[in-house]
This record gives sequence, structure tokens and C-alpha cells, in this order.
Amino acid sequence: MTGVAGRRIVVTGAGGGLGREYAKLLAREGAKVVVNDLGGSRDGSGGGSAMADAVVKEIQDEGGEAVANYDSVATPEGGQGVVQSCVDAFGGIDGVVNNAGILRDVSFAKMDDAAWDAVLQVHLYGAYYVTHAAWPHFREQKHGRIVVATSTSGIYGNFGQANYGAAKLGLVGMINTLALEGAKYNINANAVAPIAATRMTEDIAPQEWLDKLPPEYVAPIVGYLMSDESTDTGSVFIAGGGQVQRVAYFASAGHTFSEVPTLAEVADTWEQIVDMSQAKEGKQVSTSQS
Ligand code: NAI
Repeated sequence: MTGVAGRRIVVTGAGGGLGREYAKLLAREGAKVVVNDLGGSRDGSGGGSAMADAVVKEIQDEGGEAVANYDSVATPEGGQGVVQSCVDAFGGIDGVVNNAGILRDVSFAKMDDAAWDAVLQVHLYGAYYVTHAAWPHFREQKHGRIVVATSTSGIYGNFGQANYGAAKLGLVGMINTLALEGAKYNINANAVAPIAATRMTEDIAPQEWLDKLPPEYVAPIVGYLMSDESTDTGSVFIAGGGQVQRVAYFASAGHTFSEVPTLAEVADTWEQIVDMSQAKEGKQVSTSQS
């Protein structure tokens, strides 16, 4: 196969915003798509079938193939249900775009457990539940494509988003290991930090900035990472408004102490430790398999 043609792909949170664009582009390129969305508001409250149904109709009106699923990704049963929808409708599953998300922004001083849990539950646990349900299929057929939606709020931090940033960078931790464990099964796992004008960002940036960031620009990057040709795995990308970048960790040359140092010796070598002029990209070297 080439591209995503014929591939059976789940897009979570595809009832609006970025997920809708991902689902529509994948379907236009010949994929069979499960449009998952529980139809809630930005903070995750409420719900209904209308959002997912509307996107399925848009895809079908363009001649594409899609089915709706209304499960919440934030429970193990929901994750299983999303994957089962794909298997039931299309006979299997080839890829998952973990895009569903909510916001509960609040400064850390005012953060409560409910705001922390709700955000981790949808972003981090949601991606775990759906991907974990799809994983045996990917291993069995020796093919799988996974994209998680990360965020610059996790990569760099953002005021009022300690819960969201923790969840979003947790997803990067997850794909780093999935890339290693999936390598011999042709399972690729990558992360995309989108930057786009959606209901999630409508009130946090000036309109002239948002006008330059239609979600359509992000969809081809996600689509490419879901394709048969894509060989990247364990990579993180930032995509928005036409600009696409890879993000990586670099480690300084640092300093090696031959004996346990004193605090004064650490202080004396600190400049060398933090000097990034000789930095190299960090790479995982683990090859153990189970
Ligand atoms: P959005 O609010 O339009 O889309 C999120 C979708 O997820 C909604 O349709 C919502 O109903 C659905 N959803 C929420 N909880 C769900 C659950 N438990 N199960 C199933 N569906 C659920 O927002 P947007 O901007 O399209 O966000 C998509 C993803 O991209 C999110 O993960 C978000 O965190 C991420 N992102 C977006 C950025 C942006 O600039 N718009 C920046 C960085 C990350």
C-alpha cells in the first residue's frame, strides 16, 4: 500500500478542531476512518453524538469512508470501544491518532486534584487506553502507526497549564518507549505539537495571530506520519501555520567526576556542565526486548 490508502485509522476527538481536519484529510487520501468524539465542551463537560456524526457526514459527502464512535477515551472500556468500532466497521486497525483533549487551566497555586486528574485522564490515560487496545493488532499484523498530540506547553511550559503540560510531555515519554518496543513490528510512534486556531486557542491569542494558523496546515504532517512510507519513530514535531520543525533533546559534553565531588567542586565545574556549545542530540540506546 502507499500513503494511507486502505488503512483503517482511528482519530480520537475528531468531532471538531484539529481532529476533524485529520479525519477529513486521511479519508480524502483513501483511509477508512473512525471519527471518535464524545461531543463535550472545551473543559470536557457535556456530550452527545452530533459532533462526530457531522464529521462522518462531511467525509461521506466527499465520497470518503468513515464511521462515528462516541466513547470517552478516558476509560479503559472507552479505549477498547474505540478500537472495537474500527475492527467492527473495517475488519481491523492500522493506526491511531490520539488527539482528544480538554483544558482545565489554572495556576499551580489554585490547582486542585479534580483539575489535575481530569486533564491527565483524557490526554495521557486516554492515549494509553486507545493505543494499548490497538497494540496487539499492530504487533500481530506487523504494522502500526501512532501519533499523539503533544504541546509546546509540555515541551517548554506555559502559565496555568501544569496539568496539561505534564500530560502532554507524558505522551512524549510514552511514544519514546513505544518506538523502541514497536521497532521490530513496524510500529512507528511519533508526537505532533500542533499550533492552530480552534476552540481550544480561540481566547488565548490575538485574532491576527490565529488567522495565520488554520488547522488544515497541521493535518498533512499527521497524515504523512500515518503513511506507509513514513519511517520516523520516536520523534517530536511542532507544526503550525505552514512551519514544521523537529524538536529533540540535546545533552552537553558535561563533566565526569572521577570521585564523588564536594559541593564546591560541583560549583567550580558548573559552567562546563551547562555549556551547550558541544552538545549532541541524546539517543536512547536500550535494545532489550520482551
Ligand atoms: P478541540 O477542543 O477543538 O478538540 C478536542 C476534541 O476532543 C473535542 O472535539 C472534544 O469533544 C474531544 N474530546 C474531549 N475529551 C474527549 C474524550 N474523553 N473522549 C473523546 N473525545 C474527547 O481542540 P483542538 O485544538 O482541536 O485540540 C486537539 C488536540 O491538539 C488536543 O489534544 C490539544 O491538546 C492539542 N493541541 C492543540 C493546540 C492548538 O493550538 N489548537 C496546541 C497544542 C496541542
